[in-house]
Amino acid sequence: MTKLGTFYGIGVGPGDPELLTVKAINAINAVDVIIAPKTEKKEGSVALSIARSHIRPTTEIIYQVFPMVKDFSEWTEVFDGNKAEIMSILRRGKSVAFLTIGDPMFYSTYIYIFRLLRAEGVKVVTIPGVPAFLAIASQLGRPLAFGNEIISIIPATAPRGAIESALNSSDAAVLMKVYKNLDEIVDALERSGKLDEAMLVSRSGLDDEKIIDDLRNHKEERLNYLSTIITREAIR
Ligand SMILES: C[S@@+](CC[C@H](N)C(=O)[O-])C[C@H]1O[C@@H](n2cnc3c(N)ncnc32)[C@H](O)[C@@H]1O
Repeated sequence: MTKLGTFYGIGVGPGDPELLTVKAINAINAVDVIIAPKTEKKEGSVALSIARSHIRPTTEIIYQVFPMVKDFSEWTEVFDGNKAEIMSILRRGKSVAFLTIGDPMFYSTYIYIFRLLRAEGVKVVTIPGVPAFLAIASQLGRPLAFGNEIISIIPATAPRGAIESALNSSDAAVLMKVYKNLDEIVDALERSGKLDEAMLVSRSGLDDEKIIDDLRNHKEERLNYLSTIITREAIR
């Protein structure tokens, strides 16, 4: 019987192709097949475009569509279909890499696939990537947390009360998935005293990157899904 191939989950960082780790590039070069996740709405795969310059021209690339899920249990058919496709490649003894934006273990579709494949007894190797919020802190020259400070990482899609209490109980904060309710988020930042230091970066490291440092004047801005705010108490 052919031995199952290894499955790699590879973090490709937020956008700049130079932010892939050496380990990620080595794995991308070694595998037989690359899975490029995409959403139903968009043509291409952002993760693939970030990694593209590191991929050998002969490597097979398969696009898989994933819904942007809130509740994974409503989408089991789609995930099971993608899992079945990956399993059929692994059963032929081929190795597969699943590309993921930023870090694979951090708010990622990869986590669902990782769990499904682990349950099938597949050998899974996860290679970390630079998460968007840390790339953004360096890019902006904005240290996020010092000494004993507490930092919260908050999906802007979380319930409003939970967002407010996390903002109020931490020195610094990262707001992820900021694309629908910017006005509410700006108000919450104002109430927690964290608006003055807030900066938003949309599509960090990609060609159409956008930086906003005066969020008060951009409450109605239509944002891309890949948008993050970093903020902290003012440093005195
Ligand atoms: C599904 S989560 C993926 C997080 C990713 N695994 C990471 O490590 O950064 C998507 C959110 O990550 C953030 N994000 C990912 N890439 C980004 C980028 N290039 N620029 C700004 N924010 C980004 C945004 O907050 C976006 O809504």
